[in-house]
Amino acid sequence: MYYLSIKGKQKLKGSVSISGAKNSALPLLAASLLSKNRITLSNIPNVVDVKTLLKLLENLGAYAKMEKDIVQIDTMTVKSACANYDIVRKMRASILTLGPLLARFGHCEVSMPGGCAIGQRPIDLHLKALEQMGAVIELKQGYVVAKAPNGLKGTTIIFDKVTVTGSENILMAAALAHGVTKLVNVAKEPEVVQLCEVLRDAGVNIEGIGTTNLTVVGSYGELLDMQNIKVIPDRIEAGTYLCAGAITNSKITITDVIPKHMESITLKLQQMGFSFDIKENSITIIPADKIDAVDIETSEYPGFPTDVQAQFMALCTQANGTSIIDERLFENRFMHVSELARMGANIKLKGHSATVEGNMDLIAADVMATDLRASSALILAALVAKGVTKIHRIYHLDRGYENLEGKFSALGARIERLEE
Ligand code: UD1
Repeated sequence: MYYLSIKGKQKLKGSVSISGAKNSALPLLAASLLSKNRITLSNIPNVVDVKTLLKLLENLGAYAKMEKDIVQIDTMTVKSACANYDIVRKMRASILTLGPLLARFGHCEVSMPGGCAIGQRPIDLHLKALEQMGAVIELKQGYVVAKAPNGLKGTTIIFDKVTVTGSENILMAAALAHGVTKLVNVAKEPEVVQLCEVLRDAGVNIEGIGTTNLTVVGSYGELLDMQNIKVIPDRIEAGTYLCAGAITNSKITITDVIPKHMESITLKLQQMGFSFDIKENSITIIPADKIDAVDIETSEYPGFPTDVQAQFMALCTQANGTSIIDERLFENRFMHVSELARMGANIKLKGHSATVEGNMDLIAADVMATDLRASSALILAALVAKGVTKIHRIYHLDRGYENLEGKFSALGARIERLEE
């Protein structure tokens, strides 16, 4: 097993190129199941979650080839509609194959993703929406067994809660459905918007793209003429590197980003005293005279993303004063707190709220990654801690960060991947 060794107290400098968004690549790869032609996706991040989904698609019978950041995929050879437990258990987002498989084959079996480190994370809203579209769904031996032999039917679906992968799953199902599906209270994360645009470019008539209400005209089961796709930049990876600049109070530039997608993050950093030089595809963070404490509440896009909550918590340990962080989306997304405490952070938890004392002198320790984003908070803390921090179980990080130590090293961090 590998771990990361990070020597703290180094200033960062230079620039880092941001990879394609994992959370966009995954639904787009799942959407390839709706395509009647081979497609090429570019700007695909080389991360474990992407490889897991490619493996799942290959397991179903698809042809997939990844070279650098390009994936070629042809799903016309897919024969099986069963996403088995061995692969699904490695990644919750495998559930994104449910909508497209059911819409295309009229039946499918997808293993239930099960619990996960950041909470219960049910899929009830995905299932309820598919049932409203006429699917008959049973849960059998840990599998979602879904049938819609005469195709899914367009209808009106009102999501009780905003769900990102739920919206994506139902959008893909609606694209092949019989008739018109109206989706209300849809997630409007940039990744959902990109999926809408890709489906639209493939000939699906979708109204309301970028809003919470979508109208999708289904193709009556006909497969789509999908075009080549360039995945949008990863706003969460970008936010993590901005936090790295902030916590070390260094001037660094992130390139290949869409600054508009970053607004809730840059605004929060501005409130903390940082300023920015923002160009069309890049953001330079300018050090603060004094880092101020902030209050943060996570919410759906365009609000503050839960996926950078942990990184900001590490940053708040270096602010002047006390910050309050409210986690509104997931019930158990504070696992980084106990690991940060091992490095000297003073964070008190009450329900979904964390009170973070600032001005802390963090000290290197052995710490453990617990989930993808929690782990990046530990890297940030290590950058300012005195001594050498060792972060274990970094397979969590490899799920979502491409070339992590290469990118941090290029910025001047003293970081190494070593074998236990
Ligand atoms: C996606 C992202 C993840 C991000 C999250 C919130 C991907 C692959 N993952 O996860 O990185 O942290 O959005 O921005 O894109 N819920 C239900 N029932 C459901 C579905 C969701 O109650 O059927 C609840 C969840 O428990 C959670 C909330 O809705 O409290 C939002 O979850 P959701 O948006 O579905 O998260 P994911 O799509 O799994």
